[in-house]
Amino acid sequence: MKPLVGETRVPGDKSIAHRACLVAALAEGESRVEGFSGGGDNHSTLKVLRALGVEVRFDTPTTLLLRGVGLRGLRASGAPLDCGNSGTTLRLLMGVLAGQSGHFTLVGDASLSARPVARVAGPLARLGARIETPEGDHPPVWVHGGPLRGAELDTGVPSAQVKSACLFAGLLAEGSTSVREAVPTRDHTERMLRRMGVSVVERSGGLWLTPPDRMVATGFSVPGDPSSAAFFAAAAALVPGSTVSIRGVGLNPRRLGFFGVLRRMGARVEVDWTTPEAADVEPVGDLTVSWGGLAGTEIAPAEVADLVDELPLFACLAAVAEGPSVVAGAGELRIKESDRIAATGDLLRALGADVVDTDDGWRIAGGARLVGAPVAVRGDHRLALCAAVLARCAVKGIVTVDTPQVTTVSFPGFLEALERLG
Ligand code: S3P
Repeated sequence: MKPLVGETRVPGDKSIAHRACLVAALAEGESRVEGFSGGGDNHSTLKVLRALGVEVRFDTPTTLLLRGVGLRGLRASGAPLDCGNSGTTLRLLMGVLAGQSGHFTLVGDASLSARPVARVAGPLARLGARIETPEGDHPPVWVHGGPLRGAELDTGVPSAQVKSACLFAGLLAEGSTSVREAVPTRDHTERMLRRMGVSVVERSGGLWLTPPDRMVATGFSVPGDPSSAAFFAAAAALVPGSTVSIRGVGLNPRRLGFFGVLRRMGARVEVDWTTPEAADVEPVGDLTVSWGGLAGTEIAPAEVADLVDELPLFACLAAVAEGPSVVAGAGELRIKESDRIAATGDLLRALGADVVDTDDGWRIAGGARLVGAPVAVRGDHRLALCAAVLARCAVKGIVTVDTPQVTTVSFPGFLEALERLG
C-alpha cells in the first residue's frame, strides 16, 4: 500500500452547478458560471436547457456563458427532454417547468427511469402544478406548465431535490410560498436565490420565498465538490502514511457530515475556511486529511442527510476500520442511482468484507483485509469511485471494475488524479 501524499483539486460542485445553470437560465442577460465540473450530470442539465431555448457557450472547459430567457421564457421544443442519469436535473426541472408555458416531457436513462418522482409532484400540486406520470411513480414525467399560486408546502421526505423543486416553483408563483422540511438538507438553492436578490427567509420552522418580478444575470463561482473530495479524503484515511490536501472545496455545513465522521473514526481532518459564513454565499476552503488508524462508529438516522451521498464510501472505510459500525435510517439509499445498500454490500463482500445489508443501512464487522476481485458497480458512479479507493488498500490482488467509465458522471479525471498522489 503506497501512501498518498500531496495537494489536489476536485471538479466543481455538481449540486451547485445544476442550480447555477437553472438560475442563470431564468435570469435576464448573460451569466458566467466558473468552476463547471464537466461531469455527465451537469452536462445533462445544459443539454436540457439548450433544448428549452437557452444559449450556452463554453468560454473555457470549465467556464460557461448562459444567456437567460427570463423567469417564464423557457420554451418546449416538442421532443422529450433527456435528463440522462441525473435525478437533480429531472426533479429540479419539474419545479422550474411547472410555471412555464407549454407541455414538457422529462425522461432519463434506465436508472433514472426507475426513480420516484411523486415526492416532487405531490407538493407541487398544492401550487396548482399540473404534472402527470403516465407509467407510475417514475419518469417519463409530463409537465403541463401554467400559472401557479403560492402555498404552504411540506417536503414529506428529507430531500434537497424536493425542497429545491418547491422553491423554483415558488419563484414562479403568484404570492409567497413556504417550504418546511422535517430534517434540514443542503441549502444551495436558498443561498443562490438570496444572492440573486430573492427574499428567502427562515420563519416559524419554514422557508418563506417571495417571488421577484425578475432576476438579473450575474457571475457564479462554483467551489470544488466536497462529495468528490471525500474520495481523496477516504483514500488518505485508509492508507498508512498518507496526507492529502484538497484545495478550493465547498464547505457548506450541510455537506460536511462525512468529514466529521472521518474525524470521529480517527483520521486527522483539518479545515481551513477561506470565506466567512453568510446566508447568501457558499463557504469555500481547503481540507487536509491524514491517516490516523480508523475505528468503527455508528451513523445515527439524524446524521444521514449531511452525508447521504458519502454513505457508501463510509461503509468502505468501516469495513476496514477496527471494530463494528452501523448505519441506520438511510433507506433513501435504496432509490439513488442504484440500490446503494445492496450495491455497496455486494461490492464489499466481493472484496472479502463482513457486511450485512439491513432495510435502511448496514451492519459492518470491520477489520477486513481486502482482497482484489472483479466487481460490478451497477452503472453507479459513486460505487465505481468507491471501488477505485478500495483498490488502494487491498492487501493482494487487483480490483477490476465492470464499467469504470461511469466515474465521469460526477468526477472526470479521478483515476488519474488518484495516481498523481502516489
Ligand atoms: C442533491 C440532493 C441529494 C443527493 C443528490 C444531489 C441535490 O438527493 O443525493 O446527489 O443536488 O439537491 P436528495 O435530496 O433527493 O436526497
